[in-house]
Amino acid sequence: MSTQPTVGKPVSRLEGKLKVTGAAKYAAEYDVPGLLHGYVVNSTITKGKIVRVDTGRAKAVNGVIEVITHQNRPKLAWFDLQYTDMDAPPGVVFKPLYDAEIKYNGQPVALVVATDFETARYAATLVSFEYEEEPFETCLDNNLEKARDAKKGFATILRPPPPKPTGDFEGAFKNAPVKVESEYWHGVEHHNPIELFATTTVYEGDGKLTIYDKTQGTINNQVFVANVFGLHFKDVRILAPFVGGAFGSGLRPQYQLFLCVMAALLLKRNVRVVLDRKQMFSFSHRPQSVQRTRFSTDENGKLTGLNHSAVSETSQFEDYTEQVVAWSHKLYPAPNTLFEYKLVPLDVHTPIDMRAPGGVTAMHAIECTMDQLAYKLNLDPLEFRLRNYAETDPSTQKPFTSKALRECYQKGAEKFGWQKRNPTPGSTIRRNKLVGYGMATGMWDAYQFPARMEAMITKEGKLVLNNAVTDIGTGTLTVMSQIAADELGLPLEDVTFNYGDSKKPFSMFQGGSSVTASTGVAIVVAAKTLKKKLFKKAAGIKNSPIAGASEEDVIFKDGNIYLRNDPTAYVSFKDIISLNNGRAIETTNMGAPDVLNLRKYSKAAHSATFVEVEVDKDLKIITVTRAVTAVAAGKIINPKTARSQILGSMVWGISKALHEETIMDEKLGKYINTNLGEYHIPVHADIHELDVIFADEKDTLINELGVKGVGEIGLVAVPAAIANAVYHATGTRITKLPIHFDELL
Ligand code: MOS
Repeated sequence: MSTQPTVGKPVSRLEGKLKVTGAAKYAAEYDVPGLLHGYVVNSTITKGKIVRVDTGRAKAVNGVIEVITHQNRPKLAWFDLQYTDMDAPPGVVFKPLYDAEIKYNGQPVALVVATDFETARYAATLVSFEYEEEPFETCLDNNLEKARDAKKGFATILRPPPPKPTGDFEGAFKNAPVKVESEYWHGVEHHNPIELFATTTVYEGDGKLTIYDKTQGTINNQVFVANVFGLHFKDVRILAPFVGGAFGSGLRPQYQLFLCVMAALLLKRNVRVVLDRKQMFSFSHRPQSVQRTRFSTDENGKLTGLNHSAVSETSQFEDYTEQVVAWSHKLYPAPNTLFEYKLVPLDVHTPIDMRAPGGVTAMHAIECTMDQLAYKLNLDPLEFRLRNYAETDPSTQKPFTSKALRECYQKGAEKFGWQKRNPTPGSTIRRNKLVGYGMATGMWDAYQFPARMEAMITKEGKLVLNNAVTDIGTGTLTVMSQIAADELGLPLEDVTFNYGDSKKPFSMFQGGSSVTASTGVAIVVAAKTLKKKLFKKAAGIKNSPIAGASEEDVIFKDGNIYLRNDPTAYVSFKDIISLNNGRAIETTNMGAPDVLNLRKYSKAAHSATFVEVEVDKDLKIITVTRAVTAVAAGKIINPKTARSQILGSMVWGISKALHEETIMDEKLGKYINTNLGEYHIPVHADIHELDVIFADEKDTLINELGVKGVGEIGLVAVPAAIANAVYHATGTRITKLPIHFDELL
């Protein structure tokens, strides 16, 4: 039987068996000879100076090799260095063990290295620090008057400042017949992937290092290590073949990598550093934000004014920014707009991207404000959105490369049964539960970054691909293998996609739902060249069955090159390689977005989420009983892994709306629920019926594959839809996330 295309088929994860059997190895699971174990000591104060360190008792413990603090750390290249990693916001990166200064609570202050983990952890309790404490600020609400514009810098290319105002917002708002003014708030969240941040550094001698690291970007961390420690790039190899979730926390190198490499170079030994769950709360997080919206419409429910202002926290050393306030005008047309985005520096670690950074924050405020307006207008929330449907991007006047949001609304509403909704809040009752329906729109950018792909046909006639990209659990390995198999007409089992290795050709970190487009397009480009090369060789063979044919006359299938109109005439890949003296035919090519053409368009993935909640009449406990998310994200390469991405995002949406929050004790400047017992995430019993629909969105403009990415788009609309459903159930509008049941009592 001849090979069937795999794109569009629900292929199961190729590495699934390795994962469920435990054969897949993660960064902390590599056993190397003479391995030493590092355990981190974290500061117990929030701001001030270390005035005295006593490492004597720790060093006296049998098995302890070294205790490294700011007093005895080696001198390093990066202490004079500004640039550190591809995702560094403007500012000066935090440097562990740099000096006596404490900038945030939980800052790493020492690394205890011992022959085994338990000894290191025990000895870490014996290291004592004396501090001189200084006053600190960790509360956003108390410091809103300090809000200022974000500094500009390299990372702001992807995070542009707020758009310029249009029309006359204040005038339009003042005179509008229908308007809503609202404030939205959400707290800090920590990513908490199940795999702890960990690094195993293999000291190879001669300044060479092989590093197993938990990261979303192998090359990003290779560059970081080489720069910081003054090593040659080629001498640093970062491997991350399996990553147990990251959600943005692995976009930048985290401090365990630095400490582990430092110890390995200092001691000339193999070293591993694993953070514990509490320490997972001692670096970056999703920033808390306060958002104010003022939206107005005419009598017919056409938006006339959009004002969205957001204030987020950042650290004292870097200006982390998100795209928060630009979204409403990409979603809805309005002649008068005003957008503001400000930062308040606090004595915390710099925030970092967390799943749908900025987008999910924004959509909460925008889509709940839209819900409020719908009630004021006495319009169905879906009808209100359809009245303000943007055929072209209102913020740029450019057409979208594609936009099947209307189909998402229609299919999502139908599947959910939205038309059965009684508009009156509190009107639907099931046993002792108030039932509410809520909906919201979602939008996320369709990113594509350059990527280089090495592709070769081996002497077995099989395809091997090499790229540095990671698969953080999204299904990248499977999806890339499918794309490659179809490009060459090979069965899936004849494709090997090597990844998660900084030695392979370039890839950005895996983030922003960009990888399917970025790495996938690189495969398409490399496959094209590879086919040209194979064809040329095949046509040049003496008495070649395809001699005289042009490239258009042949097809690639089952490891052969056939004449299109004579399937008996063919040359096999194996024959080509053997006539090439057994040498593989190979190529390395760059795939990149067609920037010149894309400048003429706006590009985005869209979604619509419909949610049913039940709220206990007496106890006010909220349950999301059903949710449907319809997604328009271009071509879906693998409906199974894509669905899993959206399901995971929907669970996160429920989590963000009802569970997740890192709580700061403002007196101590310290997060207090730093464990998975008290940092609430949903368990199985919190998750009920979830449905995913993909719109049939054909996009011939966005890239060679017509894909947009299907990670974060599944999350963006969910928290707002839940908040809107809670309002519909109870008549109470809760504008803070997560929504606590006691706010409804
Ligand atoms: Mo992400 S926040 O796309 O790593």
